Amino acid sequence: MEKLFEPVRAGRLDLPHRIVMAPLTRSRAHQPGNVPTALNACYYAQRASAALIVSEATQVSMQGQGYAWTPGIHSREQIEGWRLVSDTVHEAGRRMFLQLWHVGRISHPALQPDQMLPVAPSAVRPAGEAFIENERGEGQLAPFVTPRPLQLMEMPYLVRQYTRGARNAQLAGMDGVEVHGANGYLLDQFAESRTNRRGDEYGGAVENRARLLIEAVETCCDVWGSDAVGVRISPLSTFNDIGDDDPEETFGYIAEKLNDFKLAYLHVVNPAAAAVEKGLPPEPAALRMVELIRRKWRGTLMLCGGFDRDSAESWLELGRADLIAFGRKFLANPDLPERFRRGAPLNQSDPATFYGGGAKGYTDYPTLEQEHGERPKACVDETWR
Ligand SMILES: Cc1cc2nc3c(=O)[nH]c(=O)nc-3n(C[C@H](O)[C@H](O)[C@H](O)COP(=O)(O)O)c2cc1C
Repeated sequence: MEKLFEPVRAGRLDLPHRIVMAPLTRSRAHQPGNVPTALNACYYAQRASAALIVSEATQVSMQGQGYAWTPGIHSREQIEGWRLVSDTVHEAGRRMFLQLWHVGRISHPALQPDQMLPVAPSAVRPAGEAFIENERGEGQLAPFVTPRPLQLMEMPYLVRQYTRGARNAQLAGMDGVEVHGANGYLLDQFAESRTNRRGDEYGGAVENRARLLIEAVETCCDVWGSDAVGVRISPLSTFNDIGDDDPEETFGYIAEKLNDFKLAYLHVVNPAAAAVEKGLPPEPAALRMVELIRRKWRGTLMLCGGFDRDSAESWLELGRADLIAFGRKFLANPDLPERFRRGAPLNQSDPATFYGGGAKGYTDYPTLEQEHGERPKACVDETWR
């Protein structure tokens, strides 16, 4: 049997195979209030063939929001919305983790409470633009601003945002949470040296820079039990203008330190994604990083980025990972594991419909059965909200 279809354990979960749905922001929460809807529930339930679904990044607070129309997990309505999603996914027989998100500086006053400045470890403005809503209710890009550095006395409040997010995810019927420590957002901004110029116990040495990430993980483990908590990191990534002067030291330390918790899994955005996607061998630095993390981290390891069926199978066989998450391929193929099993062709994802909009490019990607004439199933009552 192919490795991809072998069962595997991830914390308290017994997964039937190794093909995970990666977290994918789709910016389709109901407005106002950033509330998940029946349409969102339908989208996730369609993808219940995944061994595990990791939700789109979900802000733990208003301060934690960085893009228009992304869902939150800090209001009663949002909990109810996510409850509908988790119920629908469970009815379809699958498990789901909610990805807990605070964007830090990757935001804009237009998205912040009282139009305040976004917060960050230090006053370092990211290059690039935020995705906000304009007066006509349309998406628009606006240059990032210089964020306000967090004061030391605010740090316990930051951790409590994760505590509340973790608790609310329980109320919403999720099966666990994934702490979003990747992609240049708040926890990553603290961990990586180029965005962290602090002189207090949250800056300087790697033990200090990683402190907020570890505290966020710890509080989630207190709420859930550590075997229902995953963590995502993205070593060597430059997405959102992030970087580190000694990535092997930083991410080696983080991978090692996370062994203190018996987490469900560590989820690593593949530093070799670009090469893998092109069918090339990984760059030496990227491969060194993957091997370093594999050595340091003693639990279940998930990799994501650039994989197709064959590269995923070969990386599993080489022992580089235990699980492979797929982003764009799952977005466009609700029955991705079945397509892999049969060696069937894949639908191509359409970047024009990634963020915002309705059912088009969201719930209308066909399964193999639908391509052969089966009518799409109604998943939920779409008048729910
Ligand atoms: C439309 C889109 C939205 C994404 N949203 C998130 C997100 O919310 N959280 C996250 O950690 N990564 C996010 N990512 C990154 C994916 O999880 C994944 O790492 C990336 O797509 C590479 O995997 P792939 O080559 O299989 O697509 C997003 C990627 C895409 C294309």
